[in-house]
Amino acid sequence: MASPPLVICLGNVVADHTFRVEDVPAPPAKIAARSYSIGPGGMAANAAIAAVRLGGRAAFWGRVGDDMNGEPLAEALAAEGVDVSGLRRVPGGRTPVGAVLVDPRGERTIISFRGSGLGTDPAWLPLDRIREAGALCCDPRWPEGVAAAAAAARAAGVPVVLDGERSETRILVDLVPRVDHAVFSVPGLANFLPGRGPEEGLRQALASGPVKVAAVTQGEKGVLWMAAGDEKPTRTPAFPVEATNTTGAGDVFHGAYALAVAEGMDIPRVIRFAAAAGALRARDGATPTRAMAEEMLAGG
Ligand SMILES: Nc1ncnc2c1ncn2[C@@H]1O[C@H](COP(=O)(O)OP(=O)(O)O)[C@@H](O)[C@H]1O
Ligand SMILES: [Mg+2]
Repeated sequence: MASPPLVICLGNVVADHTFRVEDVPAPPAKIAARSYSIGPGGMAANAAIAAVRLGGRAAFWGRVGDDMNGEPLAEALAAEGVDVSGLRRVPGGRTPVGAVLVDPRGERTIISFRGSGLGTDPAWLPLDRIREAGALCCDPRWPEGVAAAAAAARAAGVPVVLDGERSETRILVDLVPRVDHAVFSVPGLANFLPGRGPEEGLRQALASGPVKVAAVTQGEKGVLWMAAGDEKPTRTPAFPVEATNTTGAGDVFHGAYALAVAEGMDIPRVIRFAAAAGALRARDGATPTRAMAEEMLAGG
């Protein structure tokens, strides 16, 4: 049997330090946490983990510092089955971290540090490996890396999916024309085309370059999407679930979307597959397996 397709995920990996607390008090305060965990977060890293759980192969390309948070992140991704040979430990760099406070109702207070000293030059990326991939999935936190990898992917005929998550307008405007699938979050699409509605944003994304599909994920309202040449957008409804923790639903959606593209599914099916994976993540607070996603798609 042929090996499953490879999804290369490029962008952000974050050491999320999660504290369950009774309350998030105003300062000055010192409180004990009920529990603590550390684990990998970040859009592209979550997408890579999702691509593996859903039956693909994944490689993560990005940067961490050579500080106390960098190596555990590399180990955690590797333990999930993600190839981390393209994860660079940058000497003197500081790894992105998050402090996540979760109260008893599940409400989150997140303090995030985007890292520093990680460098922006993508010259070290192993771009010759792009041709092994069935899809490239990028987030907008390392635009120089996206530009280099997307150009190599285009030259090799490898489809590129962008997680158009909240970011500076100029970054999204620069990146969208470089990709085949521009899949925004609600705030990301508003950053891409400020002050206009989602339909106009999707039309603008399609008009900005050889973009094949523009989409916006809208949580429990599902996905609004348009393919090049479509007259109007299509809404794919969300799978109804009781959400317990919607953190990371979009990241999992993007990993699933890229894997489905790599597997050669048609676009309506790609979106349904990704929506099933996103809904399960929102329901369980954990990334689903392929069998779980297939069961949801079958109406189980
Ligand atoms: N509460 C939910 N119920 C069902 N599906 C959901 C829910 N939240 C997210 N999803 C699925 O995951 C996708 C991505 O979630 P969304 O919240 O839009 O992204 P992000 O986490 O980036 O803001 C949605 O389009 C939907 O298909
Ligand atoms: Mg998102």
